[in-house]
Amino acid sequence: MVVVGAGAVGAAVAWSAAREQLAGEVVLVDPDPGSGASRVAGGMLAPITEAWPGEQEVLELGAASLARWPAFAEAVAADAGGPVGLRTEGTLQVATDAADVADLDRVVEHLRAWGRDVERLSGREVRRREPALGPAVRAGLAVPDDLAVDNRALLAALTAAGRARGVVTARRRVTRVLDDGARVTGVELGDDVLEADRVVVAAGAWSSALHPALADRVRPVKGEILRVRARRSSLPPPVRTVRAAVSGRPVYAVPRDERRVVVGATQYEAGFDPDVLVGGVRDLIADVERVLPGIADYALEETAASFRPGTDDNLPLLGPVGPSGLVAATGHGRNGMLLVAVTVDAITAVLRGEALPDAARPAAADRWAPGARTVDGGTTGARTDAG
Ligand code: GLY
Repeated sequence: MVVVGAGAVGAAVAWSAAREQLAGEVVLVDPDPGSGASRVAGGMLAPITEAWPGEQEVLELGAASLARWPAFAEAVAADAGGPVGLRTEGTLQVATDAADVADLDRVVEHLRAWGRDVERLSGREVRRREPALGPAVRAGLAVPDDLAVDNRALLAALTAAGRARGVVTARRRVTRVLDDGARVTGVELGDDVLEADRVVVAAGAWSSALHPALADRVRPVKGEILRVRARRSSLPPPVRTVRAAVSGRPVYAVPRDERRVVVGATQYEAGFDPDVLVGGVRDLIADVERVLPGIADYALEETAASFRPGTDDNLPLLGPVGPSGLVAATGHGRNGMLLVAVTVDAITAVLRGEALPDAARPAAADRWAPGARTVDGGTTGARTDAG
């Protein structure tokens, strides 16, 4: 079996398939493993604070994945021989100006209507919990169930766990998934071919180019992040993930350890433009400084950009699609780290020959193609699935 793409999703699927001995030799193919969106991620496991009004299926899928995360983390850690970097301190969503406070209250209403456990806090209460928050913060929302993971620790653990289970990594670029019209036959690696009767596409934002069954289903959504470090003279960083909307622009600060924080993230529909823009960095710094003013004294260690794999309905593409043997594990958008747990369960079930688990059904890769709409707004799309 071939898994295309060694980000968190591909590495996790390869590890799980090898662990369950589902597919003979498992070859994980990527020219530069762990260098894409998984490396640049904030690492939030945050179905509630990442939820967008109206996207209940995304929230439910995320909540199902979060419930699976502790067991997933434990199993990976056991095979890797070390922890995956799970942080369980929770999340605070904060607001500064009056419009952001009103938005926060709408979110509270919305989440309570969905039966989600959230606690509305005044500015003073929120600062008592996180002294790093500045005086501009006027209100907050405690979401203890929204967690985080150190994305790079997770990638390292998945690599070690996969190696321990016999996953073979090939540092090559897959240019195409091959089929004979009915079944998958392998992958093209430039001038070479690697034969396989099962191929899992976990190539993130690059997935659509690999097979016509995935064409136009996944697009790059560029994001930029900063990695900053508290110096000896600096105020300590927050313990919890802090999220805010500053003048309507979302920003988050995710602690990695007692000194380091990831600040993110911009969002642009800009194709595969790899540059970190001055304007993006400027906005992130201005916005995070409004809620965490002490960050101005931190060292700026890294800026980075990558591409979230976006889909039209913000749900991933999971399971069989197109010719027999082709399996999608892509399109995770803003939620790759969160959804890796439910994705591993879903793809492992498919590789065992079972149907997609119920929790993953809304994300079935062969669902009606979104975007094909009638004039009255109904969906007309033909199934993208040929098999
Ligand atoms: N999940 C955070 C982001 O996509 O920026």
